[in-house]
Amino acid sequence: MRRIVETAVLCLMAGAPALWAEDQTPQPEATTALTERVSAEAQDFMVAAAHPLAAEAGYDILEAGGSAADAAVAVQMVLNLVEPQSSGIGGGAFLLYGDAALGRLTSFDGRETAPAAAGPDYWLTPEGEPMDFFAAVPGGKSVGVPGTLALMKMVHERYGKLPWATLFEPAIAMAEEGFPVSQRLAASIAEAEGLASFPGARALFFHEDGTPLQEGETLRNPDFARTLRLIAADGIGPFYHGAIARDIVAAVKTETNPGVMTLEDLAGYRVIERDPVCMEYRSWEVCGMGPPSSGALTVGQMLGILSHWDLPAMGEGVPATHLFLEAANLAFADRGLYMADSDFVDMPEGLLDPDYLAGRAELIDPEHAMGEATAGEPPWDEAALRAPGLAAPEHGTSHFVIVDAGGDVVSATTTIEQGFGSQVVTNGFLLNNELTDFSFVAEEDGKPVANRVEPGKRPRSSMAPTVVLEEGVPVLLVGSPGGSRIIPYVAQALVGILDFGLDPQEAVDRPHVLSRNGPADIEEGPEAQAMADALAGLGHETKIRDLNSGLHAIAITPEGLIGAADKRREGEALGQ
Ligand code: DON
Repeated sequence: MRRIVETAVLCLMAGAPALWAEDQTPQPEATTALTERVSAEAQDFMVAAAHPLAAEAGYDILEAGGSAADAAVAVQMVLNLVEPQSSGIGGGAFLLYGDAALGRLTSFDGRETAPAAAGPDYWLTPEGEPMDFFAAVPGGKSVGVPGTLALMKMVHERYGKLPWATLFEPAIAMAEEGFPVSQRLAASIAEAEGLASFPGARALFFHEDGTPLQEGETLRNPDFARTLRLIAADGIGPFYHGAIARDIVAAVKTETNPGVMTLEDLAGYRVIERDPVCMEYRSWEVCGMGPPSSGALTVGQMLGILSHWDLPAMGEGVPATHLFLEAANLAFADRGLYMADSDFVDMPEGLLDPDYLAGRAELIDPEHAMGEATAGEPPWDEAALRAPGLAAPEHGTSHFVIVDAGGDVVSATTTIEQGFGSQVVTNGFLLNNELTDFSFVAEEDGKPVANRVEPGKRPRSSMAPTVVLEEGVPVLLVGSPGGSRIIPYVAQALVGILDFGLDPQEAVDRPHVLSRNGPADIEEGPEAQAMADALAGLGHETKIRDLNSGLHAIAITPEGLIGAADKRREGEALGQ
């Protein structure tokens, strides 16, 4: 039986919990009506994901004895169907897997790659100017070679217990029988400019008369059911080498913004297993996804800087918020200059060096905002300073977390980039627009931009799937969508839970106050103006706005599992 019950206040205690073996946007993600939430509690296993049907699919797999890897596959396939605007097999993902038997945490990089024919001028107009970001998003040119399906296959081969085909059954049934369009999906369709001009998307998300599907109407996706049946039976071959690959290559040749992806690009796609990037923070180790994501490094820098203050003693409030904003500004300055796909560009080794971060912390005046931060000079043999590039707004992503009955854990962020990605549909799924995560310019003043487009390279991401370890054992899983705001969303949840002792749901629900080395964004709400006034008093430029995180978290405590789902979205935490 599925259980969601009220929770006690979380206390992350030292010692190994029993569960770990001995050792502004034109294509926005619509917001849901905010309803109060309480954490979910469970003893044996838990899943938290951005849609109740996805969480239920994961729950059923875990209840049937499946591993966290099995549940991840089922959750991802259902998310592709019911939250199609955010993630799916046409996109990319990063997944952290904690193997309880081996006591080992691994990160899997299923990020999209640039086609072989994409070069540094990819996002320049014939006149040599960077393309307008939102003009670049729709159509095949923005589509990177998708990695999510290959990632799911690798994780299942490594850690799966149930047969691959079984994991597709929930999504196939729902795709054939149909499911009710949620409030957020309906709003996302209605608000997605230009979506109906793509025939595949029009057939899927609109009535014949061109009006968008409404909340509660039934959406059937027989093409996706057929795709899933093929993949369930034949594996990922048809997607990367066969009939679906051919359809993807044909689909990206759109009239406007035609793409250059080839069959060879798809056949050459590789998931990369990488060591997670971990940062010591007080008594914890906070681990996440390294390059090509900037997630773990930027979150890690923020925490490394904040560790110079006794936040638990300060408690929540304006002084701690000020420090949080300044730490974010400093970390984002380094992110902008240095971080990119390190398989293609040299990056400083010392971005998380404690001495370097101590120096960065000294730049913070607790009484006054520093304004725009400049990047530091971390220990690095090759001091070839870079240009920061042209950052674009980013918004279509989902985060899920899973703990199985054997103590294996998953923290995964999965994306097609903007809401509805490139808007190109083939075989019942949307293709990503991840190539717009590259810098639109390759150099500035003769200096190279680290995140420039290069053939086969992976665009810099902000996705920050996180696993917190205590004495080597996972005690907290967290992550969020939100473009580059993912980084402060995750950092704020970590500080809330680890430093301020908040229950995961309380931490997730806290109004966001964040910065990305620009104005302080303050989440609209009853306390927003007072916070804005107080921060303005410290010299911050402030902006009150809607902040659409999608945090999902599970705390693993000696007393059991405590899960949280962001009230700003539609998700759910379910466990037993
Ligand atoms: O990889 C990234 O950082 C972005 N493409 C993620 C986009 C995103 O989170 C959109 N969210 N709402």
